[in-house]
Amino acid sequence: MTDISQGLAFGAMQFGTTADARAAATMVEACLAAGLRDFDTAHGYAGGASERMLGDILRGVEGVRVATKAGYTGGAGRANLTAQLAESLDRLGMPVDLLYLHRFDPDTSLDETVATLVGFKRQGLVRRIGLSNLAAWQVMKAQGIAAVIGGRIDAIQPMYSAVKRQAEVELLPMAMDQGLAVYGYSPLGAGLLSGKYVAGGQGRLTADARYARRYAGVPEGVDAGFTGLAAEAGLHPVTLAVAWVMAHPARVVPIVSARDAAQLAPALAAAGVRLDPALYAAVAALVPTPPPATDRTEEGPG
Ligand SMILES: NC(=O)c1ccc[n+]([C@@H]2O[C@H](COP(=O)([O-])OP(=O)(O)OC[C@H]3O[C@@H](n4cnc5c(N)ncnc54)[C@H](OP(=O)(O)O)[C@@H]3O)[C@@H](O)[C@H]2O)c1
Repeated sequence: MTDISQGLAFGAMQFGTTADARAAATMVEACLAAGLRDFDTAHGYAGGASERMLGDILRGVEGVRVATKAGYTGGAGRANLTAQLAESLDRLGMPVDLLYLHRFDPDTSLDETVATLVGFKRQGLVRRIGLSNLAAWQVMKAQGIAAVIGGRIDAIQPMYSAVKRQAEVELLPMAMDQGLAVYGYSPLGAGLLSGKYVAGGQGRLTADARYARRYAGVPEGVDAGFTGLAAEAGLHPVTLAVAWVMAHPARVVPIVSARDAAQLAPALAAAGVRLDPALYAAVAALVPTPPPATDRTEEGPG
């Protein structure tokens, strides 16, 4: 059996919204049965219901790792991060393996944020610290601050899928250089790559205006092209989308998610799939490759 304990994580963002307690428990059970050990949530998800539900299901289960995030609301200052982590630990009722800053806060000094995160690690409140939704320069600035005080940023969590490839330009090469763990969120493009919209189906992208806006720029026909490639390869589109993210050399761990166990099954199946390079390239060619970070590329590096 394929070992997916390091290759896939499961996201509980929908616990308490589109996934009720029963669906949540069934999905976690399916993850554990498949060998998945990493679970992702956030202080801000579903007003705290996501952390509570995840904790209720996982508390007492051996060998699982829970990541959560702080600072989506209230900023990245010491007082807010400290209060939110305390609340997260209380809701979860179990240790936090990895705490991320959820998003950059331009109004707080990064020195204060990083010192706070490093302090949490030193106090044994969390085992690892990470940064989500930050630009590479912000991550490297944080890494520099951490190094000065004898600490280290362990992980990043960018958005990454075959239709959202910005992370390839700076974040993923940076992560390889720095030895950072990478957990990629929204590997299905919030469901765009599930194949259901090609067939006229409904889901988050028709129900949630925020997500509809996020994916509005994806060129027309990309989902149909992607579904065609999956069919030719004999793969469920969800399996192909998740396997494609996993194939990046930065060893991106996709955070898979679903509203029920039936939706989740093809995502878990991706762990056993190794993509043929031609198929990998054909998927990549569906959207324009994001331009490199510097303009003088015609002469090569140097
Ligand atoms: N750091 C951050 O800022 C951030 C942001 C977003 C997410 N995340 C994390 O990443 C996790 C995953 O994000 P995501 O939910 O956006 O991931 P995703 O994999 O891109 O989208 C998952 C959604 O696609 C649809 N779907 C999944 N399987 C399907 C299937 N077989 N058939 C049809 N539709 C299917 C479902 O939505 P519908 O059925 O509702 O259409 C499902 O909820 C979250 O739980 C969270 O932990 C982090």
